[in-house]
Amino acid sequence: MCKVIFLFFLLWGCENAGADTGPVADKGKELYLSYGCALCHGRNGSGDGINSQKFIPKPTDFHNPQSYLHGRDKDSIRRSIQNGIKEDNSIMPAFQDIPPEELDQIINYLQSLRNRRVYEN
Ligand code: HEC
Repeated sequence: MCKVIFLFFLLWGCENAGADTGPVADKGKELYLSYGCALCHGRNGSGDGINSQKFIPKPTDFHNPQSYLHGRDKDSIRRSIQNGIKEDNSIMPAFQDIPPEELDQIINYLQSLRNRRVYEN
């Protein structure tokens, strides 16, 4: 019996040891926050950041596939981020200096939000 309990705690400890490194999408979220995307797209990617009010079209809500106006496959998303988007009352800045592997992680994060409810992030 003691062995079983010991094993349980050993496994539980291992499960939790990795908790702060998190899954791949969490790394993407970290980068999303550190590049300032949240200023416009919001902390949870819902398009409601503090700078979101002045733009029409509004910053994309990454939970809602309909909110993507410029393509939601990986290549289109990459293009939107690297080149930016300029419309009459809306600017998505160009982020040309994000290293490719970081860009992939950010894209994975954005895609992981699709059709997920906000409170699940
Ligand atoms: C200054 C505000 C601002 C910041 C900062 C910003 N965005 Fe945007 N973003 C926008 C706006 C506004 C749009 C909508 C543009 C449009 O459709 O005319 C947009 C659109 C996008 C799109 C295109 C979606 C589509 O197909 O319509 C992607 C992808 C995107 N942003 C990702 C990011 C990422 C990733 C970051 C951080 C690296 C970021 N944005 C930072 C304002 C911003």
